[in-house]
Amino acid sequence: MRKPIIAGNWKMHKSIKDGVAFVEAVKPQVKGTDVEVLICAPYTLLAPLVEAAKGSNVQIGAQNMHYEDKGAFTGEVSADMLLEIGVTHVIIGHSERRQYYAETDETVNLKTKKALSKGLVPVVCCGETLEQREAGETKSVCKRQVEAAFSGIDAKDATTVVVAYEPIWAIGTGKTATSEDANDVIAYIREILLGLYGEEVSEELRIQYGGSVKPNNVEELMNQPDIDGALVGGASLEPDSFVALVNF
Ligand code: PGA
Repeated sequence: MRKPIIAGNWKMHKSIKDGVAFVEAVKPQVKGTDVEVLICAPYTLLAPLVEAAKGSNVQIGAQNMHYEDKGAFTGEVSADMLLEIGVTHVIIGHSERRQYYAETDETVNLKTKKALSKGLVPVVCCGETLEQREAGETKSVCKRQVEAAFSGIDAKDATTVVVAYEPIWAIGTGKTATSEDANDVIAYIREILLGLYGEEVSEELRIQYGGSVKPNNVEELMNQPDIDGALVGGASLEPDSFVALVNF
């Protein structure tokens, strides 16, 4: 059985004070849930959030990292730096990073491999643009992105990865893929993983949906057989809304 994982992606939002207050408010309300709970926050919030989340089931993740261990990479943060402060997860290849910060299939692969080799759980994003969807390229785009992300990763490590299918046209727009459409693409991604790694990995590996997930549509999405969680931006910013997502 795959354990669902509900993750907030705060993007570039919140002060340390607001973030810590959020974790304090959410902790008691998600205690004992069967769902894995993750908050991915900006770098400056990570250490205080790890501290605030101590002793709870709330896990703290970063939204990006570099694929090298160290060096002259001004402005970058390494896997070891994240581990040092107790971060457990890292989002890799979010569409906003692909779009604005020159993230490529190749860097997504390098980062995924680095995260796995260090013991961080990578949340690897894929998804098509509206143009690609309208051109009927949804599956070929996801296939390319997923195959590239997993290139050179063995079956043992692959199971650790969380994939997030996020159609770009659904992010922050209020437009959600229908739950059937989302499940259809996610089932297809599972098929790709089946081809790469066989049944055990494809049945164990978790694939989230992301893109305008809200408390009022989360249950329907989560009821789909292949959707194992959600990566949520806007609706993860308020404690009540985030708790409602976790307790779908
Ligand atoms: P959204 O963002 O929930 O605000 O659409 C999702 C994401 O970008 O991960």
